[in-house]
Amino acid sequence: MTAEVVEDEAAFYSKAEMYWKEIPPTVDGMLGGYGNISNVDITGSKKFLQKFLGEGAGKTGTSCALDCGAGIGRITKRLLLPLFQTVDMVDVTKEFLSKAKSYLGKEGERVGNYFCCGLQDFHPQQGRYDVIWIQWVIGHLTDGHFVQFLRRCKLGLKPNGIICIKDNVAHEGVIMDDVDSSVCRDLPSVHRIMKEAGLQILAEEKQDNLPEDIYPVQTLALR
Ligand SMILES: C[S@@+](CC[C@H](N)C(=O)[O-])C[C@H]1O[C@@H](n2cnc3c(N)ncnc32)[C@H](O)[C@@H]1O
Repeated sequence: MTAEVVEDEAAFYSKAEMYWKEIPPTVDGMLGGYGNISNVDITGSKKFLQKFLGEGAGKTGTSCALDCGAGIGRITKRLLLPLFQTVDMVDVTKEFLSKAKSYLGKEGERVGNYFCCGLQDFHPQQGRYDVIWIQWVIGHLTDGHFVQFLRRCKLGLKPNGIICIKDNVAHEGVIMDDVDSSVCRDLPSVHRIMKEAGLQILAEEKQDNLPEDIYPVQTLALR
């Protein structure tokens, strides 16, 4: 549990904000120097997400998606804008959202909202989203805030909407990273949080073809 590793909650959030303010607004910056894994990541995500999308009974629509912890819009640009009519972005670092406006190019005109806000404080508009994509940011939330955020995300979904979480998983327990002020949870901890948020796991998949020296990455679809 994060309560065991996060001593001072206010400092946990403010240190993370200070860390990201110093990071260059580039793909490499978003991926901690591993910009070269972006293609593999996006290709894997597209394959995972497309299984749910389409028309007909039970299928997830393609009108609006939300990119959480969006940064400069690496995922918005290559995964979400090509699949959804409108994409909203939310991130705590205003410099990244400013950069997104040029980084996304012409297609960026279909970004509906740039929300500059921590996910711990963010309330998605009820019933607005077909897909809420949350990648490489859950470690910046305490367990309590993560549960509450997921509950609000659930309310933000349209019928047949899904929440997708893609993130690093620890081998065991909850590991603190003092450099960027984040935690890495093992899969049982993530599952427990999802259950507490009242979400069911529809699919779960490990991302293949990542370097050996980084944490394994898991993608989950929930509603
Ligand atoms: C590792 S980067 C990932 C960016 C993007 N998801 C991607 O995969 O390219 C983490 C992002 O989370 C943002 N972030 C950190 N703490 C946050 C918080 N509490 N709420 C919202 N965004 C946060 C940072 O500003 C940064 O853009």
